[in-house]
Amino acid sequence: MSNSNNSKNSGFSHEKVETNSFLMIVLILITVAFGGLVEIVPLFFQKTTTEPIKGLMPYTALQLAGRDVYTREGCYNCHSQMIRPFRAETLRYGHYSVAGESVYDHPFQWGSKRTGPDLARVGGRYNDDWHRTHLINPRDLVPASIMPAYPWLETAEVDGASLPSHMKALRTVGVPYTDEDIAGATEAVKGKTEMDAIIAYLQVLGIHLK
Ligand code: HEC
Repeated sequence: MSNSNNSKNSGFSHEKVETNSFLMIVLILITVAFGGLVEIVPLFFQKTTTEPIKGLMPYTALQLAGRDVYTREGCYNCHSQMIRPFRAETLRYGHYSVAGESVYDHPFQWGSKRTGPDLARVGGRYNDDWHRTHLINPRDLVPASIMPAYPWLETAEVDGASLPSHMKALRTVGVPYTDEDIAGATEAVKGKTEMDAIIAYLQVLGIHLK
């Protein structure tokens, strides 16, 4: 009795919401959507997530070509590029990743699958020869490695012709390439192999954060 009195008093009672599944679903959706917006929308306006860290450079033509090889070969299926802010991670990989490091990455390569180690700060960890040998046959350097071999990168030439349009597309989403960068891209990778390109890319990963 007191229950029905209560619902009459408040007009819109809990009982109504709890016994009507459709109403319940709609209200849950509204609540979750609101919570999501409150968390997500500010990220688009915060400087720490939208501005490049100091000293961050757009990928050169060769590094960009290497990044394309990286995505084409599916390296991200086994390697993340996102060091989480936990002690176990920072001891192994270095400073945790910050958003300002990836503002020129379209699409970013953060990933979450780690069959192999995180590569967010692999730049400078090994020399070029190490990477070359490792990519031709990982077992030559790490006998127990289950990483696939990529020997064809050594002979495949970089596709320089597509780079200017690629860089133009990146410029429209905010990567500060100059007209000279774009005009010189094809020439800059002339005669380079995909191996040169992917090594150039790996060697620049994560080196800008001091
Ligand atoms: C099937 C999963 C797999 C794929 C795909 C893969 N890797 Fe690996 N990678 C590994 C494993 C496992 C290791 C650790 C053993 C080793 O060093 O070989 C590794 C190690 C590495 C290392 C050394 C990292 C370090 O800090 O010691 C680099 C660099 C690397 N991979 C680059 C690449 C690149 C570039 C590609 C794509 C062309 C690639 N990997 C594709 C599994 C993979």
